[in-house]
Amino acid sequence: MIDLERIRADFPGLAQEVHGKPLVFLDNAASAQKPRAVIDAVAHHYAHDYANVHRGVHQLAERATDAYEGAREKVRAFLNAPARHEIVFVRGTTEAINLVAASWGRHSLRAGDEVVITEMEHHANIVPWQLMAEQIGFQIKVAPILDDGSLDMEALAALLSERTRLVAVTHMSNVLGTVNPIREIVDMAHAHGALCLVDGAQSVSHLPVDVQDLGCDFYAFSGHKLFGPTGIGVLWAREELLEAMPPYQGGGEMIREVSFERSTWAELPYKFEAGTPHIVGAIGLGAAIDYVNGIGLAAIEAYEAELLAYATEVLNSVPGVRIIGTAPHKGSVLSFVMDCAHPHDIGTLLDAEGVAVRAGHHCAMPLMERLGLPATARASFAFYNTREEADALVAALHKVREIFA
Ligand code: ALA
Repeated sequence: MIDLERIRADFPGLAQEVHGKPLVFLDNAASAQKPRAVIDAVAHHYAHDYANVHRGVHQLAERATDAYEGAREKVRAFLNAPARHEIVFVRGTTEAINLVAASWGRHSLRAGDEVVITEMEHHANIVPWQLMAEQIGFQIKVAPILDDGSLDMEALAALLSERTRLVAVTHMSNVLGTVNPIREIVDMAHAHGALCLVDGAQSVSHLPVDVQDLGCDFYAFSGHKLFGPTGIGVLWAREELLEAMPPYQGGGEMIREVSFERSTWAELPYKFEAGTPHIVGAIGLGAAIDYVNGIGLAAIEAYEAELLAYATEVLNSVPGVRIIGTAPHKGSVLSFVMDCAHPHDIGTLLDAEGVAVRAGHHCAMPLMERLGLPATARASFAFYNTREEADALVAALHKVREIFA
């Protein structure tokens, strides 16, 4: 059960007015608000336990290292990853996918190989593959979506062949809300001897993730959408893949020995964590995971499914609104357009009513082209949002109609 009153009291950012109206924060797919527990964990660490990690013999260095490595263990448990050393801290999903492309991709892909992505991918799961394809000459194949925003599984199956080396797919679309059948996709990829990378940027805050159940090979997510700090994220990959992958960046922390002739690499995961890491970011992410676990992702998923059903119904009652993305399995994202107003005008007018949404192409320009739209407005819900906030969105959209229609 979700205790909304208690939960909302945990998020200081929610309790404010903008433009003289109570804030209705529906931009969680872009970045989520932070609970006091995360803010306090970050402040506490900087105030009491701060030092660099893995380097010092002194008390603060030990405390910082314990907290940083403790956060890694929290991430491992959160994903049900087999081993802590498979958890690599990075800046976010974008860096995680760039790491895989630059390290695994550069090392393993050849001209003639194929990487399969989908039409609903975020730029972060398109451009790193393009950058690498330019250098190596492999092909990028794109699995289409159906008109409701589901992945076209038959078309995906038809694209896979012995040339396929990787299927890189989002777990949940940031535009459509579509939740993809990852287990099925992984099985299809593996049947062709390909690996599967999952972009979990949108999913980890909405549904339980178990990388062993999913069976995938790489899983990437960002801390800031999971109610943690910005600038911290995670790449999980199977140990044997990480072992075989060359370092992504060189510097301190990632070496075993360095001479001017040659260097050798540190053990996992440090081989991939060059330089001083975002120590306090990782600790804040650990606190966010504790917080989310305290509510429970199963409870969050159930609550958000109800909230999404309600919000979909009331949004559909606004004349001239068209919801973009109506797949049967969706997370709590509502992209929409109106016949009377451009998404950017909708966003600006909603802001004047205290309602924060995102308007634009949502870093998914090829998807927008497929949809035949320049942009959408997008309301994205978290577990702290309420039916009353969905009503406030709808009331504000009626005002948009009054002005434009
Ligand atoms: N990718 C994030 C979004 O969808 C920033 O808004």
